[in-house]
Amino acid sequence: MTTNDTTIQVSPGDFRYVCELIKDEAAIVLEDGKEYLVETRLAPVAKSEGFHSLAELIAKLRYQAPAPLVKKVVNAMTTNETSFYRDMHPFKALQTVIIPELIQARTAARSLNIWSAACSTGQEPYSLVMMFKDHFPQLATWHNYLLATDLCTDALDKAKSGLFRQIEVNRGLPAPQLMKHFAKTAGEWFIREDLRKMIDFREMNLASPWPPIPQMDLVLLRNVMIYFNNDTKRSILERVARLLKPDGYLMLGASETTWGVEDSFERIMIGNTTVFKRKA
Ligand SMILES: C[S@@+](CC[C@H](N)C(=O)[O-])C[C@H]1O[C@@H](n2cnc3c(N)ncnc32)[C@H](O)[C@@H]1O
Repeated sequence: MTTNDTTIQVSPGDFRYVCELIKDEAAIVLEDGKEYLVETRLAPVAKSEGFHSLAELIAKLRYQAPAPLVKKVVNAMTTNETSFYRDMHPFKALQTVIIPELIQARTAARSLNIWSAACSTGQEPYSLVMMFKDHFPQLATWHNYLLATDLCTDALDKAKSGLFRQIEVNRGLPAPQLMKHFAKTAGEWFIREDLRKMIDFREMNLASPWPPIPQMDLVLLRNVMIYFNNDTKRSILERVARLLKPDGYLMLGASETTWGVEDSFERIMIGNTTVFKRKA
């Protein structure tokens, strides 16, 4: 198989090598049968880096592994699927129960710490700040900290830019919010600067030792643990448990749970949404 002169078929040995590399660098587990994923994701990297085949790119990784090339390959192998107000119900739970409860509990301190871990291209933290602006104007005078992290530097660069294509804002963002919080510039939508500046975007690998992070009132760790094995999930959840304030909340993706992985959390239902709190 070729794409514009770059042969992209991956051999079994090269596939195993890429699986090991991605597991070492990002803790992402690639199962057998995912050869097509390696081929479709890495063919453009091979081409843009001037290799004539995927095999040539992987040979370079095997024998020299230049850090920038490794980073490009890891970036390409991450799945950055996301959307504004993804799955809707969790944001309803935040708006109607979680944020009002946290505001009540923090009235004296007047500060909230929130972490969007694995924020991808930024739609998740931007959904949060739009919600704050629209429904919790009192937060504007608080000392809040919204941290948004991801391993993929390409996704983070896009998140930091605050620029979204029409197709991206069409997914999940109601038209009145688009008109209110974005400006159109040269065919793209740019989120208002005051919203963009509310978020601290940083590169961070959840599977590596973490830098110092303040105690959190709310952690969104959504749709990322599906890529990890149980040991990695447990290690991340243990650290999240230590980071959460005793009355803080953890939100996972719809298909994810702490159950059977780490037992310091209890599950709470808010409408259709399962959220997690530290056990007393
Ligand atoms: C499917 S997106 C989820 C985005 C967002 N949380 C959501 O639910 O819409 C998964 C993100 O996890 C990131 N990721 C994968 N492995 C990671 C790791 N070891 N550390 C940090 N982020 C990672 C990917 O780069 C990707 O942006």
